[in-house]
Amino acid sequence: MDKVYRLNLSGVHNNRGRSALIRALHLRENPYISRMNNSPTLDSATEPTPPNSVLMVPIRSLGENHRDRIAVHLKALDANDRYYRFGYAASDSQIDAYVSALNFARDEIFGIYNRHLRLIAMAHLAFARTPAGVPVVEFGVSVLAKARGRQYGARLFERAVMHARNEGVQVMYVHVLSENTAMLKIARHCGAVFVRDGAESEAHLKLTPATLNTHLTEMVEEHMAQANYLIKRHAKHWRDAVDDLQSPWI
Ligand SMILES: CC(C)(COP(=O)(O)OP(=O)(O)OC[C@H]1O[C@@H](n2cnc3c(N)ncnc32)[C@H](O)[C@@H]1OP(=O)(O)O)[C@@H](O)C(=O)NCCC(=O)NCCS
Repeated sequence: MDKVYRLNLSGVHNNRGRSALIRALHLRENPYISRMNNSPTLDSATEPTPPNSVLMVPIRSLGENHRDRIAVHLKALDANDRYYRFGYAASDSQIDAYVSALNFARDEIFGIYNRHLRLIAMAHLAFARTPAGVPVVEFGVSVLAKARGRQYGARLFERAVMHARNEGVQVMYVHVLSENTAMLKIARHCGAVFVRDGAESEAHLKLTPATLNTHLTEMVEEHMAQANYLIKRHAKHWRDAVDDLQSPWI
């Protein structure tokens, strides 16, 4: 059986099911562990996405100023989703604690915004090191219920893999409950190896070294996503201004 390292998604993931091997590793440094698309596609949850389509999704890196919207996003998840995401049904205050402890300097947080600037999907890529000093990451993701089945989860996973490779990381871990079919599929499609431990599964994905292409692709995707976000922000600003002007007359 392959060895699996389980990072400690502090205060968010509980300790149940954590293997002795993983506990013994005491990963250092990180106490957590845990292509451009048209706006209408991001907003209309009912519109089906053709199977196997190459979907360009504006995935951007999130910074400090997105904390509040990350909290709103996570609190919109129901109890079952929170259980899948964190390993237990996190309460609102536990989500607040998780969000306020996010370290944007060390970790990478990716997000997908719709045209109302609602964070409809996000991923947390938490960085750590094994005792031997090998850099590893753990991936956690959530997509709002209305935006599911549109490949956002898969695209976030791919973006995270690319980023981790570009940062010189060799192994990525995902903690998945065994009944979480969608997440199992996402990780499996990318070649992750699973180790099952009761109701829980640990997936690990060996990453190939970065190439010039992965560096350039990530840079271009990030620029496109930032531009997409700015356009949405201006459009929302103007929509809100027009609404304000019209309100006395309606
Ligand atoms: C897991 C999750 C992120 C998937 O997001 P998503 O955007 O709906 O996933 P995608 O659209 O990228 O679908 C990925 C694959 O899962 C499949 N899938 C999606 N929802 C599914 C479901 N409910 N049951 C079975 N398969 C499902 C898709 O068909 C797709 O498979 P395919 O590529 O073979 O067609 C989302 O369901 C979620 O946020 N769940 C709650 C939090 C969570 O479970 N996080 C993961 C643990 S960290």
